Amino acid sequence: MDQIVIRGGQRLKGRIPISGAKNAALTLLPCALLTDEPLTLRNLPRLADVDGFGHLLNQLGCSTTIEGSRPEDFGRVMTARTTTLTSTVAPYDIVRKMRASILVLGPLLARAGEATVSLPGGCAIGNRPIDLHLKALEAFGAQIELTSGYVKAVAPGGRLAGGKFTFPVVSVGATENALMAASLAKGTCVLENAAREPEIVDLCNCLVAMGAHVEGIGTETLTIEGVDRLHGATYRVMADRIEAGSYACAAVITEGDVELVGAKADEMEATLSALRQAGATVEETKTGIRVAMSGRAQPVTLSTAPYPGFATDMQAQFMAMATLGSGASLFTETIFENRYMHVPELARMGCDIDVRGRSAVVRGVDRLVGAPVMATDLRASMSLIIAGLAAQGTTEVNRVYHLDRGYERLEEKLQAVGADIERISAG
Ligand code: EPZ
Repeated sequence: MDQIVIRGGQRLKGRIPISGAKNAALTLLPCALLTDEPLTLRNLPRLADVDGFGHLLNQLGCSTTIEGSRPEDFGRVMTARTTTLTSTVAPYDIVRKMRASILVLGPLLARAGEATVSLPGGCAIGNRPIDLHLKALEAFGAQIELTSGYVKAVAPGGRLAGGKFTFPVVSVGATENALMAASLAKGTCVLENAAREPEIVDLCNCLVAMGAHVEGIGTETLTIEGVDRLHGATYRVMADRIEAGSYACAAVITEGDVELVGAKADEMEATLSALRQAGATVEETKTGIRVAMSGRAQPVTLSTAPYPGFATDMQAQFMAMATLGSGASLFTETIFENRYMHVPELARMGCDIDVRGRSAVVRGVDRLVGAPVMATDLRASMSLIIAGLAAQGTTEVNRVYHLDRGYERLEEKLQAVGADIERISAG
């Protein structure tokens, strides 16, 4: 397994290109199942999860072709075409490795009137149930049964009827599955208390480009008037607001000055506000967002929440930034029940963090010391990179396959702004 080795102490200075958003790409790719015409996605990030999703689409009968791109380019162009489905089954051995595979459930049900998808199971940050995905689809007329670890869903008469569902809690994935299923329903579907993340807006905009009728885009009430068929489209994946926020935290902890090229301020206001709370200079530029810092980060008090609140996907990275701050910062994780896996690894580097249930107090220390650490999940592994960039000495991050799921060519992007970082391939 590859390892990333960082020799800390370098200030990050320069421009970091932000790639296409992983969490947008993973809900745009299954849209290719909704039509027999080609869907072309631009600015697709080179990520393990994107490749994995492409393989799943292939198994279902969707052909995918990547347009040539120069090695130095970030992002790719993929055209996906499902002329006819050859399967409506998403098997356990794929779904267990990539939870986002559950996002083929809605499209398969909409296109073929049936779907058999393995239950994804839990992961490091929580048990990640999918009950809300199923309840929303049932509200639209689906008949669903759970047998031998699989979800079997059928649309009576081959087509969803339409209906209304109010989410008891905000769910990004359930909103996405319901949206894709509703786009080809016979009637009108209404989703209340729907997720409003920018990735949901990206999905709605792509569906509209394919001929869907969606009202209320960007709000918590989505009304989808089903159509008989959708056509192909060419759509550009939005910039990754979480990747951008992650590099912003790296800039702050190293007292650097970076421009996040391609980042959109209006998609990450809570993150920018938290950076300013920490004392960073944050300003929009013609091509992105500049983040600069001198001195130690000020204490922050942050509680994660659905968009437009502070993103749970940014919690670990901000916590790493706070470890060298002045004073005590308070974090509360309200979305997932086990999203502090980075704490024991950060503690190995000398951080002072006290976890009490859903909250964690981070007391700033004067220095971090590099150490061998273990990545446990995607954002936790980024928090270890951020701490390693500012630690004295060498940090070795193991199990970097977690990082490769969500950060395109991370070490290249950081080397280009002065970090002393390299990947050691274990062969
Ligand atoms: C998406 O996961 C993202 N993943 C996650 O990013 C992100 O952390 C999360 O949304 C919240 O923003 C992708 O987009 C691929 P949820 P998702 O359904 O859809 C509960 C990353 O690091 N819930 O919004 O799985 C659930 O347990 C990843 O990039 C139910 O109870 O998240 C959680 O407590 C990690 N029943 C809360 O809702 C359900 O049926 C929010 O989950 C579904 C969810």
